[in-house]
Amino acid sequence: MPIPKSIPENPVSATTDSCSPQLGLDDPSLFIQAGIINGEHVTARETFDVDNPATGEIIGTCPDMDVDDTRRAIDVAHAAFQSFKSTPPLERQAYLAKLHALVLRHADDLARLIVWENGKAWPDAVAEVAYAASYVSWFAGEAVRQNGEVLPSTAGHNFVIKQPVGVCALLVPWNFPIGMIARKVAPALATGCTAVVKVPAETPYTNLAFVELVHRAGVPAGVVNVVTTHAHLVDVGKELTTNPKISKVSFTGSTRVGKILAAQASTTLKKLSLELGGNAPLIVFEDADIPTAVAGTLASKFRGSGQTCVCANRIYVHEAVYDEFAEALASRVRQFKTGPGFADGVTHGPLIHKAAADKVQQHLDDAVARGARVVAGGRRLGDTLLEPTVLVDVPADCLLTGEETFGPLAALIRFRTEDEVVALANASEVGLAGYFFSNDADRIWRVAEQLAVGMVGANTGVISSALVPFGGVKESGYGKEGGRDGTDEYLVKKLVVVGSRVG
Ligand code: SIN
Repeated sequence: MPIPKSIPENPVSATTDSCSPQLGLDDPSLFIQAGIINGEHVTARETFDVDNPATGEIIGTCPDMDVDDTRRAIDVAHAAFQSFKSTPPLERQAYLAKLHALVLRHADDLARLIVWENGKAWPDAVAEVAYAASYVSWFAGEAVRQNGEVLPSTAGHNFVIKQPVGVCALLVPWNFPIGMIARKVAPALATGCTAVVKVPAETPYTNLAFVELVHRAGVPAGVVNVVTTHAHLVDVGKELTTNPKISKVSFTGSTRVGKILAAQASTTLKKLSLELGGNAPLIVFEDADIPTAVAGTLASKFRGSGQTCVCANRIYVHEAVYDEFAEALASRVRQFKTGPGFADGVTHGPLIHKAAADKVQQHLDDAVARGARVVAGGRRLGDTLLEPTVLVDVPADCLLTGEETFGPLAALIRFRTEDEVVALANASEVGLAGYFFSNDADRIWRVAEQLAVGMVGANTGVISSALVPFGGVKESGYGKEGGRDGTDEYLVKKLVVVGSRVG
Protein backbone atom coordinates (compact mmCIF):
# COMPACT_ATOMS: atom_id res chain seq x y z
CA MET A 1 0.00 0.00 0.00
CA PRO A 2 1.59 3.34 -1.04
CA ILE A 3 1.04 5.07 2.27
CA PRO A 4 3.23 8.10 3.03
CA LYS A 5 6.90 7.44 2.53
CA SER A 6 7.42 8.47 6.13
CA ILE A 7 4.64 9.17 8.58
CA PRO A 8 5.81 11.85 11.00
CA GLU A 9 5.83 10.96 14.65
CA ASN A 10 5.01 14.57 15.37
CA PRO A 11 3.21 16.14 12.42
CA VAL A 12 2.84 19.39 14.40
CA SER A 13 6.16 20.52 12.96
CA ALA A 14 4.46 20.64 9.58
CA THR A 15 2.72 23.89 10.54
CA THR A 16 5.77 25.99 9.81
CA ASP A 17 6.69 24.40 6.50
CA SER A 18 5.24 25.61 3.25
CA CYS A 19 6.36 22.36 1.57
CA SER A 20 5.99 19.62 4.10
CA PRO A 21 8.03 16.49 3.55
CA GLN A 22 6.53 15.38 6.87
CA LEU A 23 3.26 14.47 5.17
CA GLY A 24 5.14 11.88 3.15
CA LEU A 25 4.06 13.15 -0.25
CA ASP A 26 5.96 12.13 -3.38
CA ASP A 27 5.42 15.70 -4.60
CA PRO A 28 5.58 17.95 -1.50
CA SER A 29 4.62 21.01 -3.58
CA LEU A 30 1.06 19.66 -3.62
CA PHE A 31 0.79 20.56 0.07
CA ILE A 32 -0.36 24.19 -0.14
CA GLN A 33 -1.07 26.20 2.99
CA ALA A 34 -2.45 29.27 1.19
CA GLY A 35 -5.48 30.57 -0.67
CA ILE A 36 -5.26 30.93 -4.46
CA ILE A 37 -6.22 34.12 -6.30
CA ASN A 38 -5.25 34.74 -9.91
CA GLY A 39 -3.00 31.67 -9.83
CA GLU A 40 -1.00 33.02 -6.90
CA HIS A 41 -0.76 31.75 -3.34
CA VAL A 42 -2.20 34.27 -0.91
CA THR A 43 -1.91 34.66 2.83
CA ALA A 44 -4.00 36.52 5.42
CA ARG A 45 -3.33 38.27 8.72
CA GLU A 46 -4.71 35.31 10.67
CA THR A 47 -4.45 31.58 10.07
CA PHE A 48 -6.42 28.56 11.26
CA ASP A 49 -5.16 25.09 12.11
CA VAL A 50 -6.05 21.92 10.26
CA ASP A 51 -5.89 18.68 12.21
CA ASN A 52 -5.74 14.96 11.67
CA PRO A 53 -9.13 13.67 12.90
CA ALA A 54 -7.59 10.36 13.97
CA THR A 55 -5.26 11.98 16.52
CA GLY A 56 -6.25 15.62 16.85
CA GLU A 57 -2.69 16.64 15.94
CA ILE A 58 -2.20 19.74 13.83
CA ILE A 59 -0.96 18.96 10.33
CA GLY A 60 -0.82 22.50 8.95
CA THR A 61 -2.42 25.94 8.80
CA CYS A 62 -4.32 27.97 6.22
CA PRO A 63 -5.01 31.68 5.86
CA ASP A 64 -8.26 32.83 7.44
CA MET A 65 -9.44 34.83 4.43
CA ASP A 66 -12.17 37.44 4.88
CA VAL A 67 -14.77 39.31 2.84
CA ASP A 68 -12.20 41.63 1.22
CA ASP A 69 -10.16 38.63 0.06
CA THR A 70 -13.34 37.03 -1.25
CA ARG A 71 -14.28 40.18 -3.21
CA ARG A 72 -10.80 40.19 -4.72
CA ALA A 73 -11.21 36.56 -5.79
CA ILE A 74 -14.64 37.35 -7.29
CA ASP A 75 -13.27 40.36 -9.21
CA VAL A 76 -10.44 38.23 -10.61
CA ALA A 77 -12.85 35.43 -11.61
CA HIS A 78 -15.14 38.00 -13.21
CA ALA A 79 -12.30 39.51 -15.25
CA ALA A 80 -11.11 36.02 -16.28
CA PHE A 81 -14.64 35.10 -17.41
CA GLN A 82 -14.58 37.81 -20.10
CA SER A 83 -12.02 35.79 -22.07
CA PHE A 84 -12.47 32.24 -20.73
CA LYS A 85 -16.12 32.16 -21.82
CA SER A 86 -14.95 32.22 -25.46
CA THR A 87 -12.29 29.52 -25.13
CA PRO A 88 -12.84 26.98 -27.92
CA PRO A 89 -14.54 23.80 -26.65
CA LEU A 90 -11.68 21.59 -27.83
CA GLU A 91 -9.27 23.67 -25.74
CA ARG A 92 -11.44 23.30 -22.65
CA GLN A 93 -11.65 19.58 -23.30
CA ALA A 94 -7.85 19.41 -23.55
CA TYR A 95 -7.48 21.16 -20.16
CA LEU A 96 -9.80 18.61 -18.59
CA ALA A 97 -8.10 15.65 -20.29
CA LYS A 98 -4.76 16.86 -18.96
CA LEU A 99 -6.25 17.43 -15.51
CA HIS A 100 -7.63 13.88 -15.56
CA ALA A 101 -4.18 12.52 -16.34
CA LEU A 102 -2.62 14.64 -13.57
CA VAL A 103 -5.16 13.50 -10.96
CA LEU A 104 -4.35 9.89 -11.84
CA ARG A 105 -0.60 10.56 -11.84
CA HIS A 106 -0.80 12.10 -8.37
CA ALA A 107 -3.46 9.71 -7.07
CA ASP A 108 -1.35 8.43 -4.18
CA ASP A 109 -0.50 11.92 -2.93
CA LEU A 110 -4.12 13.05 -3.23
CA ALA A 111 -5.27 9.97 -1.29
CA ARG A 112 -2.62 10.68 1.36
CA LEU A 113 -3.91 14.23 1.79
CA ILE A 114 -7.46 12.89 2.13
CA VAL A 115 -6.41 10.49 4.89
CA TRP A 116 -4.40 13.17 6.70
CA GLU A 117 -7.16 15.76 6.87
CA ASN A 118 -10.42 13.82 6.50
CA GLY A 119 -9.36 10.61 8.25
CA LYS A 120 -11.00 8.15 5.89
CA ALA A 121 -9.40 4.73 5.55
CA TRP A 122 -6.80 4.34 2.81
CA PRO A 123 -8.96 2.14 0.50
CA ASP A 124 -11.81 4.66 0.77
CA ALA A 125 -9.43 7.54 -0.01
CA VAL A 126 -8.06 5.74 -3.07
CA ALA A 127 -11.61 5.07 -4.26
CA GLU A 128 -12.47 8.74 -3.82
CA VAL A 129 -9.60 9.89 -6.02
CA ALA A 130 -10.76 7.51 -8.78
CA TYR A 131 -14.31 8.82 -8.31
CA ALA A 132 -13.09 12.42 -8.68
CA ALA A 133 -11.09 11.54 -11.79
CA SER A 134 -14.19 10.02 -13.37
CA TYR A 135 -16.01 13.37 -13.10
CA VAL A 136 -13.12 15.18 -14.76
CA SER A 137 -13.14 12.60 -17.55
CA TRP A 138 -16.91 12.80 -18.03
CA PHE A 139 -16.91 16.59 -18.23
CA ALA A 140 -13.96 16.55 -20.65
CA GLY A 141 -16.37 14.79 -23.01
CA GLU A 142 -19.17 17.20 -22.19
CA ALA A 143 -17.02 20.21 -23.17
CA VAL A 144 -17.51 19.38 -26.85
CA ARG A 145 -21.15 18.28 -26.70
CA GLN A 146 -22.99 21.49 -25.90
CA ASN A 147 -25.23 21.49 -28.93
CA GLY A 148 -28.02 23.97 -29.31
CA GLU A 149 -31.29 23.53 -31.17
CA VAL A 150 -32.93 24.80 -34.33
CA LEU A 151 -36.68 25.15 -33.80
CA PRO A 152 -39.54 25.49 -36.30
CA SER A 153 -40.57 29.00 -37.21
CA THR A 154 -43.36 30.45 -39.38
CA ALA A 155 -41.00 33.13 -40.64
CA GLY A 156 -37.21 33.24 -40.35
CA HIS A 157 -35.39 30.88 -37.98
CA ASN A 158 -35.39 30.08 -34.26
CA PHE A 159 -32.16 28.99 -32.64
CA VAL A 160 -31.41 28.05 -29.04
CA ILE A 161 -27.76 28.45 -28.08
CA LYS A 162 -26.11 27.50 -24.80
CA GLN A 163 -23.74 29.87 -23.03
CA PRO A 164 -21.75 29.65 -19.78
CA VAL A 165 -23.73 31.05 -16.85
CA GLY A 166 -20.81 33.19 -15.57
CA VAL A 167 -18.80 33.30 -12.37
CA CYS A 168 -19.71 30.42 -10.06
CA ALA A 169 -19.40 30.29 -6.27
CA LEU A 170 -18.65 26.68 -5.40
CA LEU A 171 -19.01 25.74 -1.73
CA VAL A 172 -17.67 22.26 -1.12
CA PRO A 173 -17.97 19.94 1.91
CA TRP A 174 -15.34 18.08 3.96
CA ASN A 175 -16.66 14.54 3.45
CA PHE A 176 -15.28 14.15 -0.10
CA PRO A 177 -12.21 16.41 -0.17
CA ILE A 178 -11.56 15.82 -3.88
CA GLY A 179 -14.79 14.24 -5.16
CA MET A 180 -17.00 17.27 -4.64
CA ILE A 181 -14.61 19.95 -5.95
CA ALA A 182 -14.06 17.77 -9.03
CA ARG A 183 -17.75 17.50 -9.80
CA LYS A 184 -18.25 21.26 -9.48
CA VAL A 185 -15.06 22.65 -11.03
CA ALA A 186 -14.97 20.20 -13.97
CA PRO A 187 -18.39 21.24 -15.40
CA ALA A 188 -17.52 24.90 -14.81
CA LEU A 189 -14.37 24.47 -16.92
CA ALA A 190 -16.18 22.36 -19.52
CA THR A 191 -18.73 25.10 -20.13
CA GLY A 192 -16.44 28.15 -19.99
CA CYS A 193 -17.39 29.40 -16.52
CA THR A 194 -14.94 30.72 -13.96
CA ALA A 195 -15.08 30.03 -10.24
CA VAL A 196 -14.40 31.01 -6.67
CA VAL A 197 -14.22 27.89 -4.54
CA LYS A 198 -14.84 28.16 -0.79
CA VAL A 199 -13.07 25.12 0.61
CA PRO A 200 -13.92 23.58 3.99
CA ALA A 201 -11.72 24.49 6.96
CA GLU A 202 -11.52 20.80 7.89
CA THR A 203 -10.11 19.60 4.54
CA PRO A 204 -8.56 22.46 2.56
CA TYR A 205 -5.38 20.68 1.41
CA THR A 206 -6.81 18.11 -1.01
CA ASN A 207 -8.96 20.85 -2.57
CA LEU A 208 -5.93 23.13 -2.91
CA ALA A 209 -3.87 20.32 -4.45
CA PHE A 210 -6.66 19.75 -6.98
CA VAL A 211 -6.63 23.44 -7.95
CA GLU A 212 -2.82 23.31 -8.22
CA LEU A 213 -3.33 20.48 -10.75
CA VAL A 214 -5.95 22.60 -12.57
CA HIS A 215 -3.21 25.19 -13.11
CA ARG A 216 -0.62 22.58 -14.08
CA ALA A 217 -3.12 21.40 -16.70
CA GLY A 218 -2.78 24.83 -18.30
CA VAL A 219 -6.03 26.47 -17.18
CA PRO A 220 -5.32 30.24 -17.15
CA ALA A 221 -4.74 32.06 -13.87
CA GLY A 222 -7.90 33.61 -12.44
CA VAL A 223 -10.27 30.99 -13.82
CA VAL A 224 -10.34 28.97 -10.58
CA ASN A 225 -9.70 30.79 -7.31
CA VAL A 226 -9.75 29.43 -3.76
CA VAL A 227 -10.85 31.06 -0.52
CA THR A 228 -9.80 29.33 2.71
CA THR A 229 -11.63 30.58 5.76
CA HIS A 230 -12.77 29.58 9.21
CA ALA A 231 -13.58 32.55 11.46
CA HIS A 232 -15.12 34.51 8.55
CA LEU A 233 -17.17 31.62 7.18
CA VAL A 234 -20.58 33.27 7.58
CA ASP A 235 -19.53 36.59 6.03
CA VAL A 236 -17.66 34.91 3.19
CA GLY A 237 -20.72 32.74 2.48
CA LYS A 238 -22.87 35.86 2.42
CA GLU A 239 -20.53 37.63 0.00
CA LEU A 240 -20.45 34.63 -2.33
CA THR A 241 -24.23 34.43 -2.41
CA THR A 242 -25.00 38.15 -2.74
CA ASN A 243 -22.18 39.66 -4.83
CA PRO A 244 -23.75 40.70 -8.16
CA LYS A 245 -20.74 39.41 -10.10
CA ILE A 246 -21.57 35.84 -9.06
CA SER A 247 -24.15 34.22 -11.37
CA LYS A 248 -24.42 30.75 -9.90
CA VAL A 249 -23.99 29.11 -6.51
CA SER A 250 -23.42 25.40 -6.04
CA PHE A 251 -23.45 24.15 -2.46
CA THR A 252 -23.11 20.70 -0.92
CA GLY A 253 -23.83 20.56 2.79
CA SER A 254 -26.58 20.68 5.37
CA THR A 255 -30.20 21.62 4.71
CA ARG A 256 -29.97 24.28 7.43
CA VAL A 257 -27.09 26.12 5.72
CA GLY A 258 -28.56 25.48 2.25
CA LYS A 259 -31.70 27.39 3.24
CA ILE A 260 -29.64 30.36 4.47
CA LEU A 261 -27.59 30.45 1.26
CA ALA A 262 -30.72 30.12 -0.90
CA ALA A 263 -32.35 33.04 0.91
CA GLN A 264 -29.24 35.17 0.42
CA ALA A 265 -28.88 34.18 -3.25
CA SER A 266 -32.51 35.11 -3.87
CA THR A 267 -31.62 38.80 -3.45
CA THR A 268 -29.93 38.71 -6.87
CA LEU A 269 -31.76 35.62 -8.19
CA LYS A 270 -28.69 33.53 -8.82
CA LYS A 271 -28.89 30.13 -10.45
CA LEU A 272 -28.64 27.57 -7.61
CA SER A 273 -27.69 23.92 -7.16
CA LEU A 274 -28.19 22.62 -3.64
CA GLU A 275 -27.15 19.11 -2.64
CA LEU A 276 -28.33 18.96 0.94
CA GLY A 277 -28.91 16.49 3.71
CA GLY A 278 -30.38 13.02 3.34
CA ASN A 279 -31.94 10.50 5.70
CA ALA A 280 -31.98 7.60 3.27
CA PRO A 281 -34.36 4.69 3.80
CA LEU A 282 -33.12 1.21 2.85
CA ILE A 283 -35.74 -1.54 2.62
CA VAL A 284 -35.12 -5.29 2.61
CA PHE A 285 -38.29 -7.02 1.37
CA GLU A 286 -39.16 -10.62 2.19
CA ASP A 287 -38.34 -11.67 -1.40
CA ALA A 288 -34.85 -10.09 -1.41
CA ASP A 289 -31.69 -12.01 -2.14
CA ILE A 290 -30.08 -11.73 1.30
CA PRO A 291 -26.38 -11.75 0.23
CA THR A 292 -27.16 -8.98 -2.29
CA ALA A 293 -29.05 -7.00 0.36
CA VAL A 294 -26.18 -7.38 2.84
CA ALA A 295 -23.56 -6.30 0.27
CA GLY A 296 -25.71 -3.32 -0.75
CA THR A 297 -26.30 -2.29 2.86
CA LEU A 298 -22.60 -2.45 3.69
CA ALA A 299 -21.75 -0.36 0.62
CA SER A 300 -24.39 2.25 1.30
CA LYS A 301 -24.25 2.46 5.09
CA PHE A 302 -20.53 2.34 5.88
CA ARG A 303 -18.84 4.23 3.01
CA GLY A 304 -16.62 6.95 4.53
CA SER A 305 -17.55 5.63 8.00
CA GLY A 306 -21.16 6.57 7.30
CA GLN A 307 -20.37 10.19 6.45
CA THR A 308 -22.03 10.60 3.06
CA CYS A 309 -25.33 12.28 2.25
CA VAL A 310 -26.52 9.10 0.51
CA CYS A 311 -25.69 6.68 3.33
CA ALA A 312 -28.61 4.47 4.36
CA ASN A 313 -29.90 5.88 7.64
CA ARG A 314 -33.10 3.95 8.35
CA ILE A 315 -32.90 0.24 7.49
CA TYR A 316 -36.34 -1.40 7.29
CA VAL A 317 -36.29 -5.21 7.19
CA HIS A 318 -39.34 -7.43 6.62
CA GLU A 319 -40.15 -9.53 9.68
CA ALA A 320 -39.87 -12.80 7.68
CA VAL A 321 -36.17 -12.23 6.90
CA TYR A 322 -35.25 -9.95 9.80
CA ASP A 323 -33.19 -12.39 11.88
CA GLU A 324 -31.42 -13.92 8.88
CA PHE A 325 -30.51 -10.49 7.46
CA ALA A 326 -29.44 -9.08 10.85
CA GLU A 327 -27.10 -11.99 11.55
CA ALA A 328 -25.59 -11.94 8.04
CA LEU A 329 -25.02 -8.17 8.24
CA ALA A 330 -23.60 -8.29 11.77
CA SER A 331 -21.15 -11.07 10.91
CA ARG A 332 -19.70 -8.94 8.08
CA VAL A 333 -19.55 -5.81 10.24
CA ARG A 334 -17.66 -7.70 12.96
CA GLN A 335 -14.88 -8.20 10.40
CA PHE A 336 -14.35 -4.45 9.91
CA LYS A 337 -11.30 -2.84 11.47
CA THR A 338 -11.61 0.68 12.87
CA GLY A 339 -8.59 2.95 13.33
CA PRO A 340 -6.43 5.69 11.81
CA GLY A 341 -6.81 5.69 8.03
CA PHE A 342 -3.19 4.79 7.24
CA ALA A 343 -2.98 1.85 9.66
CA ASP A 344 -2.66 -1.62 8.20
CA GLY A 345 -5.92 -3.39 7.47
CA VAL A 346 -8.09 -0.48 8.66
CA THR A 347 -11.37 -0.45 6.78
CA HIS A 348 -13.06 2.42 8.62
CA GLY A 349 -11.42 5.63 9.82
CA PRO A 350 -12.48 8.18 12.44
CA LEU A 351 -15.32 10.66 12.17
CA ILE A 352 -14.40 14.21 11.26
CA HIS A 353 -14.88 15.79 14.73
CA LYS A 354 -15.61 14.76 18.28
CA ALA A 355 -19.00 16.50 17.88
CA ALA A 356 -19.82 14.22 14.93
CA ALA A 357 -18.96 11.14 16.98
CA ASP A 358 -20.99 12.50 19.93
CA LYS A 359 -24.05 12.76 17.68
CA VAL A 360 -23.72 9.14 16.57
CA GLN A 361 -23.26 8.10 20.19
CA GLN A 362 -26.41 10.04 21.12
CA HIS A 363 -28.41 8.24 18.38
CA LEU A 364 -27.04 4.90 19.55
CA ASP A 365 -27.78 5.55 23.24
CA ASP A 366 -31.26 6.83 22.48
CA ALA A 367 -32.15 3.73 20.44
CA VAL A 368 -30.77 1.43 23.15
CA ALA A 369 -32.75 3.30 25.79
CA ARG A 370 -35.85 2.56 23.71
CA GLY A 371 -35.16 -1.18 23.58
CA ALA A 372 -32.66 -1.63 20.71
CA ARG A 373 -29.76 -4.11 21.10
CA VAL A 374 -26.18 -3.89 19.79
CA VAL A 375 -25.27 -7.05 17.83
CA ALA A 376 -22.01 -5.82 16.26
CA GLY A 377 -19.54 -3.09 17.24
CA GLY A 378 -20.92 -0.43 19.55
CA ARG A 379 -17.68 0.63 21.24
CA ARG A 380 -16.29 4.17 21.31
CA LEU A 381 -12.55 3.75 20.74
CA GLY A 382 -11.61 7.43 21.10
CA ASP A 383 -12.92 10.97 20.71
CA THR A 384 -13.59 10.48 16.99
CA LEU A 385 -13.40 6.70 16.65
CA LEU A 386 -16.56 4.63 16.80
CA GLU A 387 -16.83 1.00 15.76
CA PRO A 388 -19.19 0.29 12.86
CA THR A 389 -22.28 -0.88 14.69
CA VAL A 390 -25.41 -2.91 14.00
CA LEU A 391 -28.49 -2.34 16.14
CA VAL A 392 -31.53 -4.64 16.13
CA ASP A 393 -35.04 -4.20 17.54
CA VAL A 394 -34.90 -0.50 16.74
CA PRO A 395 -38.28 1.25 17.14
CA ALA A 396 -39.62 3.13 14.09
CA ASP A 397 -39.73 6.31 16.15
CA CYS A 398 -36.44 7.39 17.68
CA LEU A 399 -33.79 10.07 17.21
CA LEU A 400 -32.03 8.31 14.36
CA THR A 401 -35.15 7.88 12.26
CA GLY A 402 -35.90 11.61 12.47
CA GLU A 403 -32.51 12.93 11.39
CA GLU A 404 -29.38 11.90 9.53
CA THR A 405 -26.89 10.11 11.83
CA PHE A 406 -23.88 10.70 9.53
CA GLY A 407 -21.94 7.90 11.13
CA PRO A 408 -21.35 4.13 11.12
CA LEU A 409 -24.58 3.05 12.79
CA ALA A 410 -26.84 0.53 11.01
CA ALA A 411 -30.24 0.54 12.70
CA LEU A 412 -32.59 -2.30 11.72
CA ILE A 413 -36.33 -1.64 12.05
CA ARG A 414 -38.96 -4.40 11.49
CA PHE A 415 -41.89 -3.96 9.09
CA ARG A 416 -44.78 -6.12 7.87
CA THR A 417 -46.29 -4.72 4.66
CA GLU A 418 -45.18 -2.84 1.56
CA ASP A 419 -47.68 -0.02 2.13
CA GLU A 420 -46.51 0.41 5.72
CA VAL A 421 -42.81 0.57 4.80
CA VAL A 422 -43.26 2.93 1.85
CA ALA A 423 -45.17 5.29 4.14
CA LEU A 424 -42.40 5.06 6.77
CA ALA A 425 -39.70 5.62 4.13
CA ASN A 426 -41.45 8.72 2.80
CA ALA A 427 -42.18 10.19 6.24
CA SER A 428 -39.23 12.58 6.08
CA GLU A 429 -38.84 16.20 5.05
CA VAL A 430 -35.75 15.28 3.02
CA GLY A 431 -35.48 12.99 -0.02
CA LEU A 432 -32.02 12.45 -1.44
CA ALA A 433 -31.49 8.69 -1.91
CA GLY A 434 -33.48 5.53 -1.14
CA TYR A 435 -32.62 1.86 -1.56
CA PHE A 436 -34.54 -1.39 -1.59
CA PHE A 437 -33.92 -5.07 -2.23
CA SER A 438 -36.49 -7.34 -3.89
CA ASN A 439 -36.62 -10.04 -6.55
CA ASP A 440 -40.15 -9.13 -7.68
CA ALA A 441 -40.02 -7.21 -10.99
CA ASP A 442 -43.43 -5.57 -10.46
CA ARG A 443 -42.44 -4.46 -7.00
CA ILE A 444 -39.14 -3.04 -8.25
CA TRP A 445 -40.91 -0.61 -10.59
CA ARG A 446 -43.77 0.09 -8.16
CA VAL A 447 -41.57 0.95 -5.17
CA ALA A 448 -38.99 2.83 -7.27
CA GLU A 449 -41.78 5.12 -8.45
CA GLN A 450 -43.30 5.53 -4.98
CA LEU A 451 -40.18 6.48 -3.03
CA ALA A 452 -40.07 10.26 -2.58
CA VAL A 453 -36.36 10.68 -3.27
CA GLY A 454 -34.17 11.95 -6.10
CA MET A 455 -32.18 8.72 -6.51
CA VAL A 456 -33.19 5.08 -6.02
CA GLY A 457 -30.93 2.05 -5.73
CA ALA A 458 -32.90 -1.15 -6.45
CA ASN A 459 -30.84 -4.23 -5.52
CA THR A 460 -27.74 -2.09 -5.10
CA GLY A 461 -26.24 0.20 -2.50
CA VAL A 462 -24.13 2.07 -5.04
CA ILE A 463 -25.85 4.79 -7.04
CA SER A 464 -23.21 7.48 -7.49
CA SER A 465 -21.40 7.83 -10.79
CA ALA A 466 -20.14 10.65 -13.00
CA LEU A 467 -22.45 9.50 -15.80
CA VAL A 468 -25.75 10.03 -13.98
CA PRO A 469 -27.57 12.99 -12.39
CA PHE A 470 -27.01 13.17 -8.63
CA GLY A 471 -29.49 15.22 -6.61
CA GLY A 472 -32.51 15.17 -4.36
CA VAL A 473 -36.08 16.34 -3.87
CA LYS A 474 -37.91 17.99 -0.97
CA GLU A 475 -35.50 19.57 1.54
CA SER A 476 -32.56 17.67 0.06
CA GLY A 477 -32.40 20.51 -2.43
CA TYR A 478 -32.55 20.94 -6.18
CA GLY A 479 -30.23 20.82 -9.16
CA LYS A 480 -28.15 17.88 -10.35
CA GLU A 481 -24.47 17.08 -10.40
CA GLY A 482 -22.95 14.68 -12.93
CA GLY A 483 -24.47 13.33 -16.11
CA ARG A 484 -25.75 15.68 -18.81
CA ASP A 485 -27.88 17.58 -16.28
CA GLY A 486 -24.68 18.34 -14.36
CA THR A 487 -23.46 20.30 -17.37
CA ASP A 488 -26.74 22.15 -17.90
CA GLU A 489 -26.47 23.56 -14.37
CA TYR A 490 -23.54 25.70 -15.61
CA LEU A 491 -25.21 26.87 -18.82
CA VAL A 492 -27.98 29.26 -19.79
CA LYS A 493 -30.06 28.76 -22.89
CA LYS A 494 -30.53 31.77 -25.12
CA LEU A 495 -33.18 32.03 -27.83
CA VAL A 496 -32.05 33.73 -31.02
CA VAL A 497 -34.85 34.54 -33.50
CA VAL A 498 -33.54 35.45 -36.95
CA GLY A 499 -36.16 37.09 -39.13
CA SER A 500 -36.28 37.43 -42.88
CA ARG A 501 -35.98 40.69 -44.81
CA VAL A 502 -39.34 42.31 -45.29
CA GLY A 503 -38.39 44.50 -48.24
C1 SIN B 1 -22.18 13.42 -0.64
O1 SIN B 1 -22.19 12.77 0.38
O2 SIN B 1 -22.41 14.63 -0.58
C2 SIN B 1 -21.84 12.84 -1.99
C3 SIN B 1 -21.95 11.38 -2.06
C4 SIN B 1 -21.64 10.81 -3.42
O3 SIN B 1 -21.23 11.52 -4.34
O4 SIN B 1 -21.82 9.60 -3.59
